[in-house]
Amino acid sequence: MHTLTELPTDKDAAYAELAASLRALLDGEHDLVANAANMAALIYWSLSELNWAGLYLMDARRGELLLGPFQGKPACVRIPLGRGVCGTAAQRRETVVVPDVHQFPGHIACDSASNSEIVVPVIRGGRLLGVLDLDSPVRARFDEADARGLERLVKVFVESLAD
Ligand code: SME
Repeated sequence: MHTLTELPTDKDAAYAELAASLRALLDGEHDLVANAANMAALIYWSLSELNWAGLYLMDARRGELLLGPFQGKPACVRIPLGRGVCGTAAQRRETVVVPDVHQFPGHIACDSASNSEIVVPVIRGGRLLGVLDLDSPVRARFDEADARGLERLVKVFVESLAD
């Protein structure tokens, strides 16, 4: 059983600890869904002020994002590329930080409690595997330090996957 510890208040230090925890948690397992599930749970239960954390995985056959492992309330299942914050990050292949989701054109509201959001693309060997999505009830909850830190966690996740 994985024990969650209190994280430092400095965000870079917190994400460094979280990256080490994630590496230990995923050690020896290469399955995408299992490791995505544990990454979502680790993030959701370690970071403060979140109401949703999880992945949308690329459904290559239909060319759209499909709901993957997550923690939080039930969410919308399919998101076309270019739609919402998730589809935008997937299409641009870059992290998107949204301080106020109500100001983001095309934002897809899954949980009315969400006020800010960050989405990090998951790319492996040039192929888009999906996105990591975090929602917060707090406006402007996410900043550049969160983007850096979450990109670091995504890197650990990608490195854990089987060839
Ligand atoms: N808000 C997202 C949809 C997914 S939920 O937040 C879980 C979006 O606009 O893409």
